[in-house]
Amino acid sequence: MRLNLKCLLTLLVPLALAKVEDPCTAPGGEGVCIDKSLCKMSSGQKGTATTYTGYCKNDPANILCCVKKVTQLTNGTNLSKAGVCKNVSKCPTNSNTLYSNQCPGSSNVKLCVPKVTTTTKKTTTTKKTTTTTKKTTTTKKATTIIKPTTFKQKEIIDLSKWNVVNDYSAAAKEIDGVILRCGYRGYGSSGSLAKDDKLETHYNGFKGKTKIGYYFFTQAKTTAEAEAEATYVVNTLLKGKTNNFPIFWDSELSGASGNTGRADGLSKTTRTNCAVAFIKKIKALGYKAGVYASESWFRDNLDLKKLTDAGAYIWVAKYSNNSPSTSSYDAWQYSSSGSVKGINGNVDKSHVYKNIAGW
Ligand SMILES: *[C@@H]1O[C@H](CO)[C@@H](O)[C@H](O)[C@H]1NC(C)=O
Ligand SMILES: *[C@@H]1O[C@H](CO)[C@@H](O)[C@H](O)[C@H]1NC(C)=O
Ligand SMILES: *[C@@H]1O[C@H](CO)[C@@H](O)[C@H](O)[C@H]1NC(C)=O
Repeated sequence: MRLNLKCLLTLLVPLALAKVEDPCTAPGGEGVCIDKSLCKMSSGQKGTATTYTGYCKNDPANILCCVKKVTQLTNGTNLSKAGVCKNVSKCPTNSNTLYSNQCPGSSNVKLCVPKVTTTTKKTTTTKKTTTTTKKTTTTKKATTIIKPTTFKQKEIIDLSKWNVVNDYSAAAKEIDGVILRCGYRGYGSSGSLAKDDKLETHYNGFKGKTKIGYYFFTQAKTTAEAEAEATYVVNTLLKGKTNNFPIFWDSELSGASGNTGRADGLSKTTRTNCAVAFIKKIKALGYKAGVYASESWFRDNLDLKKLTDAGAYIWVAKYSNNSPSTSSYDAWQYSSSGSVKGINGNVDKSHVYKNIAGW
């Protein structure tokens, strides 16, 4: 019996050989089985490349599990989220972007980068059309919630540097507006403020063709930092630009591994205080303000009522057929994998239920 089993196993072994470039999972994370001499950083890249023995079962001794993580591409571009070299079969493109020429092996292995959190979306919100009749007369507050029955639902997309647009005119014809990521705060300890690499490109492409708005990816840890984000958006990023929407504060996990981003661990109270500080500052600077987050983030990490009380429009992300269950919302980002003529790949799509852009 034993002997027979052994014979059988011997026969089976060749069938069980892993293929080079097959996926593997080592203590360092997901990787690919590849010749160990190829597992290294390329010129210009930043990140780590580590080989692990024993995770590519039955492969020749030179084939090890290579866990390669990249934070800066060969051309010097920094990624806001680290990418991992993977067999492309393990990298769903609805939630990730694939980069070629960054990984060892054939075109079956590519750098898989989670789509940015920031990725944008969102828009809009709820309530409070503070019909500012100017101070000289009387400030009338009309909480006019325009219901979908009286307001024709609008189709909005949001874009950042991760989106490639080939034909802005064609794209503009399919939508009622676009919200651009104008910038972000880095999730590292210094938390520097930065402009989205494609803000000008996308802005110039869509200018005059559709309504344009903006969102900013926050990593503020204090109310002072949140106010600084608002000031940076209005006085620097939007300077000289047309704006048709509330300015949205994009609050979500940074995407840093282990949720180590500077604002990832904020308490609900602190995060809400930061949001309110941003909203108030944006309004003081003469704009409408909004907050974008996922349905669960609004539930667990922000006090939505405090945001709407401060006058914020609410833009909820929920990729589902079921509408958001938040107590209120003005816009719903219902998909991260929509398609729009003239734009490569997946596009975030939202429905807007309120006339927030003077349609
Ligand atoms: C990984 O890539 C190889 C090509 O090298 C492909 O044949 C194979 O199906 C992929 N493996 C898995 C498990 O997806
Ligand atoms: C670097 O390469 C990436 C991926 O191909 C591309 O998106 C980006 O625009 C490039 N950046 C520069 C500065 O060439
Ligand atoms: C990428 O980040 C490094 C710091 O980690 C910085 O020195 C470098 O200038 C950045 N490169 C670009 C293109 O922003």
